[in-house]
Amino acid sequence: MELVKPNNDLQLLTTKDGSYTLYDTQNDETYHSKFGAKAESDTVFLLNTGVSKRLEQLLPTKVLEIGFGTGFNFVNTAHKAIACKSPLHYTGIEMRPPPPALANELLKHNAPKLEALCDFTSNSLARCQLNSEAGDTHFDPFTTLNLICADALEWPLPRATYDAIYLDAFSIKNNPTLWSASFLQKLCNAIKVDGVLATYCVSRTFRDALTDAGFNWQKHPGPMGKREVLTASRSNLLKPAYQPETT
Ligand SMILES: C[S@@+](CC[C@H](N)C(=O)[O-])C[C@H]1O[C@@H](n2cnc3c(N)ncnc32)[C@H](O)[C@@H]1O
Repeated sequence: MELVKPNNDLQLLTTKDGSYTLYDTQNDETYHSKFGAKAESDTVFLLNTGVSKRLEQLLPTKVLEIGFGTGFNFVNTAHKAIACKSPLHYTGIEMRPPPPALANELLKHNAPKLEALCDFTSNSLARCQLNSEAGDTHFDPFTTLNLICADALEWPLPRATYDAIYLDAFSIKNNPTLWSASFLQKLCNAIKVDGVLATYCVSRTFRDALTDAGFNWQKHPGPMGKREVLTASRSNLLKPAYQPETT
């Protein structure tokens, strides 16, 4: 079994809403918006994808997150699912997980009343570094996590499965392939017909790639100091399905 190398170039950083993020000193990138990690998670991901509303309506909800990182978006989403007693199945893909103890410190600061959920998440991070796909793990009868420690570019995704996709890669400058048309086509194939992809990135190159991949996109006002964020949905049903490369 291969041990995935944890990312040790990380420091905790306080964002403007008081919640913590991680700062990657090697890439000069933060894991969440400097304007507010909690505000970003609430607005860009839970609210804009409609996940928050689905959970309030007790609709079973499948979320895929590209770039699971610390697991904070998972904790925030699971918190809502647990409060609503609504079924949530959350798949996270992460290529280079942060050290679990550091993630745990961040999670407990950002979600101080959710100690058991924070421990579940950081234990999942530790486990997935030993076994890249541990399969579904259940926090409670409502909340299931499938955390996959792998390169999202290479991981096969099921067709028409996800109600929401949180695209939370590093910036297009440092992580260009996760914003490319070929990867977005793979996500377009994996999302349900009425599913919503959400992200913080609004760059022109990314918007063009979304269109090329078969998505319609829409800009929204960003939370706190961020001007704009984005959602996208499948533009039609007639686009050719994503064809994985054959070797
Ligand atoms: C902006 S951070 C994600 C923050 C995370 N959502 C959170 O709540 O902590 C981007 C993440 O994408 C991961 N990543 C970068 N390239 C990847 C790839 N090809 N496949 C999977 N994850 C990748 C990085 O290791 C990093 O953890």
